[in-house]
Amino acid sequence: MKTSKTKVVIVGGGPAGLMLSHILGRYGIDNAVVERHSMEHVASRIRAGVLEYGTAQLLKEHGLAERMLRDGKAKNGALIVWENRPDFFIDLKKWTGKQMWAWGQTYIQEDLHAALTASGAQMIHEAADVALHDITDDPSVTYVKDGVRHQLKCDFICGCDGFHGPSRQAIPLDVRREYERVYPFAWLGIMVERPPLENFTYAYHSDGMAMAAQRNPMLSRYYVQTPLSDRIEDWPDDRFWATLLRRLPENLASQVQTGPSIEKSMAPLRSFVSEPLRWGKLFLAGDAGHIVPPTGAKGLNLAFSDVFYLSRALRSHYLEGSDHYLETYSEMALRRIWASENISWRLTKLLHVFPDEVPFDQKIRESDYDLLLGSEPAQQALAHEYLGLPFEE
Ligand code: APR
Ligand code: PHB
Repeated sequence: MKTSKTKVVIVGGGPAGLMLSHILGRYGIDNAVVERHSMEHVASRIRAGVLEYGTAQLLKEHGLAERMLRDGKAKNGALIVWENRPDFFIDLKKWTGKQMWAWGQTYIQEDLHAALTASGAQMIHEAADVALHDITDDPSVTYVKDGVRHQLKCDFICGCDGFHGPSRQAIPLDVRREYERVYPFAWLGIMVERPPLENFTYAYHSDGMAMAAQRNPMLSRYYVQTPLSDRIEDWPDDRFWATLLRRLPENLASQVQTGPSIEKSMAPLRSFVSEPLRWGKLFLAGDAGHIVPPTGAKGLNLAFSDVFYLSRALRSHYLEGSDHYLETYSEMALRRIWASENISWRLTKLLHVFPDEVPFDQKIRESDYDLLLGSEPAQQALAHEYLGLPFEE
């Protein structure tokens, strides 16, 4: 076995792990990323494309916003449309004075790979059998690369290995509490090389939700709610477009430019939080600690908010000799996580048809939407939540 030492081992090279590595590198904090898949594989994943205000600021602060500012699109809000009811615009400009960005996670991942490669950061891809050891005392991570077993000794392990990674499992069951809601439907998403609609648009329809998103002037992403039992093969392009267009109001359906899909994927919806996010020298960030349904696009934004708190904590530890932020990381990150879980759940409930619901549920849903249409305080609250709450001092 080959043994080496670093200050921080980051398990997982998705957006959370790489952003953390990038920020720590800028502070001169020695770290290594250990990722199971190849760089190409990780970079090819298609995920949401809405950046909260705070996420965009974080990219700017750390020299990663050049392409976003050039090729992305600043957004003043998002649209909700409703079968037989007026449209509603989540007016960020009016209620918060701030904007969000239409900018794909895939591009962020590419920029992170480029920045880390250029700075000579230690990224170990295609690492097999990644395991965490002795996390309450003398932590280390072992893995196998090209048939050779390695051990990385460290001060801290950051578990950024997504929902299925080993880090969360390393926290003993008797201290770990998991909170979960699994939804009885999925989102089917397609990518198409056609100009998108002007606004990110969420549509409520009695057949199910539909959504219009965007990546760039010639790339659109659309989604429809489907039953959990459906498979991608059940959804040829023709059926997808017919469903989408039926669920959108006439004026928007007529603007949608259809075409052959270049990608199609299906994702079940889940809300999940694991507490605490710290155990001994192990800290969880991103999907390793929590999952949100895609409604509201909080997943990447939440991963970056964890990274903001965790990088600040590690900087404070190494550069200022203070452990205040390390000690408060779990509770501080969780406050913001629960706020995002909350808005994602409420938007999911508002916009989807649940197969087991009763007419009472539909009346409540309509009443929630009417409240939004008629109440300025409700509009203001939603705008702040959609934009993303500020990070805590
Ligand atoms: N060993 C090493 N790496 C692992 C292991 C393992 N055993 N298991 C998982 N990983 C890696 C995955 O291959 C993946 O690249 O951890 C990474 C986790 O990345 P994501 O799942 O993207 O999670 P995260 O970085 O927290 O990003 C969260 O981005 O991917 C979206 O939907 C997600 O929007 C959310 C946000
Ligand atoms: C996306 O860009 O794919 C997207 C945007 C907003 C959402 C979900 C997905 O709520």
